[in-house]
Amino acid sequence: MKYTKLGINGPLVSTVGFGAWGISGRDWGKTDDESSRRAIHCALDAGVNFIDTADVYGFGHSEELIRQVLDERSDKDKIVIATKAGNNFYPFVGKEHKVTPFNNDYSVKHLVFAAEQSIKRLNVEALDILQLHSPVLETLEKDEPWLALEKLKRDGKIKHAGWSVISFGEISHAHILERHHDLLDVIQVRYNLLEKQAEEVLLPLAMKYGTGVIVRIPLIFGLLSGKFNHKTIFGENDHRRTNLSPEKLASYLERFDALKPLFEKHPDYSPAQISLRFCISHPACHVVIPGGKTEKQVRENVVASEMDLITHKDFEE
Ligand SMILES: NC(=O)c1ccc[n+]([C@@H]2O[C@H](COP(=O)([O-])OP(=O)(O)OC[C@H]3O[C@@H](n4cnc5c(N)ncnc54)[C@H](OP(=O)(O)O)[C@@H]3O)[C@@H](O)[C@H]2O)c1
Repeated sequence: MKYTKLGINGPLVSTVGFGAWGISGRDWGKTDDESSRRAIHCALDAGVNFIDTADVYGFGHSEELIRQVLDERSDKDKIVIATKAGNNFYPFVGKEHKVTPFNNDYSVKHLVFAAEQSIKRLNVEALDILQLHSPVLETLEKDEPWLALEKLKRDGKIKHAGWSVISFGEISHAHILERHHDLLDVIQVRYNLLEKQAEEVLLPLAMKYGTGVIVRIPLIFGLLSGKFNHKTIFGENDHRRTNLSPEKLASYLERFDALKPLFEKHPDYSPAQISLRFCISHPACHVVIPGGKTEKQVRENVVASEMDLITHKDFEE
């Protein structure tokens, strides 16, 4: 496993991390907590020291699973947890919802409350990284979310401030980094072999300011592993029913087929590994956070960290 500093102010992190939305028990259909805990342990055993989560994932369940795993480990002080806040799920706890409802609140009051709840669930003194959970532009233009991050830092409740950029806002929202780069230690972006909008403005800006960059959705929810086809049907409570609807899936599959020559050039690696390697081969990107539900997936995904033979140039040809 290779390690790098997550931007000029960030901690040392493994270049492959663990995305903990999929194990939350919501939005991805039914999950098995024991298998999820084993997947996290497997990642940490392989040298992963970076986990991305959010308070809203499973209404706190993702953070709780992470804490359970960390409680079993002697290396827990070396593990960096990045969480997120801004979707106030608390009024919905205990009520039936097929998918996670949106109830955005980026007020100072809510963000401080949310950070304190995450601190308790993760059983830490301060959060390593707290990211604004993908606010819309109108919210980002307000002062409150930034005042909240400043206050949380000042009060020692968060060590680093982050902003998870809303999907497909990589170009239209990029000026926000220009405005808040002094406060922002890290950003999180959607970036993968088929969705490269972040390359236009956001990644160059992050390099200019030394901002840490976390790359999410590197496998397009599993699609870039090559396991889906036109007949794939997702379960009722799986967000991929919408985010990979039959029309979207058809379009992605067509573009996935066009990647075949690239995959064939590197027969020793799987499409998932090559896709993950692409994300961290960009000089602005520090850590890629594939979601992993099983030990098998994790073992396959961590290999991307060591694949030095593929540089960003290889993907440009
Ligand atoms: N707005 C935000 O801030 C935001 C939004 C989305 C994600 N995120 C973060 O980014 C992380 C990564 O994104 P993601 O989990 O949505 O998408 P992803 O990493 O592109 O896809 C993860 C899913 O792909 C499948 N998979 C993983 N490794 C595989 C392999 N080697 N072979 C075959 N299938 C594999 C698994 O699902 P199955 O086994 O069920 O197919 C897994 O749950 C999330 O966990 C979360 O931490 C943040």
